[in-house]
Amino acid sequence: MYLTQKEERMLNGKEGYAVRKSMEILVALGNIFGAKKLIRVGSVQVAGVSYHNLGDAGLEFLNELARDGKVRVLTTLNPAGMDLEDWRKLGIDEEFAKKQNLVIDSFKKMGIIISCTCTPYLIGNLPRYGEHIAWSESSAVTFANSVIGAMTNREGGPSALAAAFVGKTPFYGLHLEENRVPDTQVNVKTKLKKLSDWGALGYSIGKKVENKIPYITGIRDANLGELKTFCASLATYGSKPLFYIKGITPGSEKHRPPREKITIHDKDIKEAYENINDDVEVIDFVCIGCPHSSIEEISEIAELLKNRTISPTTEFWVATSRTMKQLADKRSYTETIEKAGGKFACDTCMAVAPLKGRFRSVATTSAKGCYYSRHNNMKTKLGSLEECVEAAVRGKWS
Ligand code: F3S
Repeated sequence: MYLTQKEERMLNGKEGYAVRKSMEILVALGNIFGAKKLIRVGSVQVAGVSYHNLGDAGLEFLNELARDGKVRVLTTLNPAGMDLEDWRKLGIDEEFAKKQNLVIDSFKKMGIIISCTCTPYLIGNLPRYGEHIAWSESSAVTFANSVIGAMTNREGGPSALAAAFVGKTPFYGLHLEENRVPDTQVNVKTKLKKLSDWGALGYSIGKKVENKIPYITGIRDANLGELKTFCASLATYGSKPLFYIKGITPGSEKHRPPREKITIHDKDIKEAYENINDDVEVIDFVCIGCPHSSIEEISEIAELLKNRTISPTTEFWVATSRTMKQLADKRSYTETIEKAGGKFACDTCMAVAPLKGRFRSVATTSAKGCYYSRHNNMKTKLGSLEECVEAAVRGKWS
């Protein structure tokens, strides 16, 4: 891979330890994937923030980099393993909180914004169309590539950090126009009636197209909540982190529908629900906000919980960014949700918090949330916001 003189200096350690390590990572990646050079990135989103996933080895790696590492571009963080301000309320133990705070201290030292969200585009890390970026979390990467039209590979935690310290990433994969051409046309011949149907659609398309880029036809409209849910599900269940929806997402007008074609019928959506849902009635955990809730979603939750009380046997979380929660505070949504017995889980989420063994079953609007909850040994129910709120109030799925 071609390196400029400045990049050579960085690789030789002339700009410190963190930059040298970062260049080693970027050059190794570039060589593996045949990149000809490094390109500048406009922003970085770093995943691998939860101590639950990092462990002591990860913490040590971050501490080493934080000795002299400073980010050169706007860099935000994915969710951590706990609410950074109110972790006790979520049942997090002291020892975990101590370690998680050490992780966050390292990121702070590096100059990273402690945003702790998988929807950075809702709180100020919003790239422009065609901008090269280096993001890591799969739903955010898919949203950035497909809904915004920015260009990013799905970075791992270390390669995203490396891009932040150098301000560049290897020029390969989805940074190249020729690798962004759709492979399969997906004709959607079913009506999507509720938010969770978009998760079921993502499941179905992801499984059918596997590692390809779908060009989706047959969808007339989609709002922000539906698109972010779809992004999370599609990337979890199989497709590349890029899709086009004809007439809705940018770039769809540039491409012709591919010849290879599949169709999604009612039965495919039904099958997706059958595969995602378990046979369970009692629900002891309900989590909304995967990806992190927008202010619009929080307002809908507040409206549904007005004058209602969540079952004492059920824990109800609204996962979101702290910035979004502050907005919810101002608009009294927080008061309504907390009065009903709900909790805000800021900075964290159902996949990265240490939840194994705490709950037996979860109801959620997110197909991705179901996937990760099964890894935490929970039985899962995917449903609309109304169905999930109802499950929280009744303590069971009906
Ligand atoms: Fe975000 Fe966590 Fe879901 S990172 S997409 S809320 S699994």
